[in-house]
Amino acid sequence: SGSELGCSITQWPEYALKRAGESVDLTCYTTLAYMFWYQQPSRSSLKLIVSTSKWHQNYYEEGYSEAKFELSRDKNNLSIMTIKNVTFKDAATYFCAANDHTMQQEH
Ligand SMILES: *[C@@H]1O[C@H](CO)[C@@H](O)[C@H](O)[C@H]1NC(C)=O
Ligand SMILES: *[C@@H]1O[C@H](CO)[C@@H](O)[C@H](O)[C@H]1NC(C)=O
Repeated sequence: SGSELGCSITQWPEYALKRAGESVDLTCYTTLAYMFWYQQPSRSSLKLIVSTSKWHQNYYEEGYSEAKFELSRDKNNLSIMTIKNVTFKDAATYFCAANDHTMQQEH
């Protein structure tokens, strides 16, 4: 989370501990138009899960699905990513990022 050039972005919770089979909600607040959720498993690199904007459909990267990483974005600029049916493989640090310009997609 951080603040730069008057833009704001913040995410919570800081930690979540869940049992296998449970769901977890990760929330990101940003006023910027484009939003990205990333996953970083420990000792692994950052991977883009999903890109979204105020106007377009969500775009999931290969290997990630809406069934597993459900996304909702409301009018109050909150993006909630619900990770469903968690397993030990979902243990990771999750980051949200945002910008106001181009939709950046890495393939
Ligand atoms: C949501 O973001 C827009 C700018 O994109 C801003 O004008 C508006 O005040 C924000 N609303 C809330 C509830 O933060
Ligand atoms: C949850 O995940 C486990 C392991 O991947 C799978 O066997 C099970 O069918 C899943 N349950 C649901 C409700 O999706």
